[in-house]
Amino acid sequence: MAALSVATAGAPGLSSETWDQSSQISDSQEGASIPPRKHIPAQPAVAAAVPKAERAAALQLIRDEIGECTRCPLHKGRNKLVFGDGNPAARLMFVGEGPGADEDAQGLPFVGRAGQLLNNMISAMGLKREDVYIANVVKCRPPGNRVPEQEEGATCSPFLFRQIDVIRPQVLVALGATAATWLLGSRQPLAGLRGRVHAVRGAQLIVTYHPAYLLRDPRQKKEAWADLQIAMRELGLKPPAKA
Ligand code: URA
Repeated sequence: MAALSVATAGAPGLSSETWDQSSQISDSQEGASIPPRKHIPAQPAVAAAVPKAERAAALQLIRDEIGECTRCPLHKGRNKLVFGDGNPAARLMFVGEGPGADEDAQGLPFVGRAGQLLNNMISAMGLKREDVYIANVVKCRPPGNRVPEQEEGATCSPFLFRQIDVIRPQVLVALGATAATWLLGSRQPLAGLRGRVHAVRGAQLIVTYHPAYLLRDPRQKKEAWADLQIAMRELGLKPPAKA
């Protein structure tokens, strides 16, 4: 878990155009101070490996088990549950906080403005959205896009952990402090978590800013690119040549 220094200059594919998004989204408060929270229980051990060909079916079993969930109060405001989306055998998995309005309407993760920026981040890495898997800590939209409560995260995150155990990504990218908190099982300021590789459920975890935060503070995109370069290095990826 040694600290990694990563060059941030010359981010191919992450030109000002691809990062030039409007900034109207108001979820994760990455820059805000983090209030103390209740202790989060240790995560259960990683489950037995599922063969690649069976991962889609294994994910569907988890989805079926979740059903028309009423396990936590978030179901009350839900239109569509957002289970997760992407390649069931992805080497790279992104984890966000929870669905926003667009995701709640469509039942898919990261399809709004933050999702557009995430798509740009994925293509800057030389990947397509269908190469990766994307899920959230909670599967139903918190009212007003607030941070999920302890009870909500504790109820929903075990399903996320089971998705991770099925997909077995080599690299997990936590998008923002909420994802990092629930994946690591402890609440720490984002600044102290970035720039190094953590071990979570057999994967290498990289922590970076939430795309919604990057829309509000585009100056941090360079830092986010440095984080993504750590993920790319772990995956053996080189950024695509500039067009
Ligand atoms: N923000 C998130 O954390 N997740 C989504 O799916 C969309 C926005």
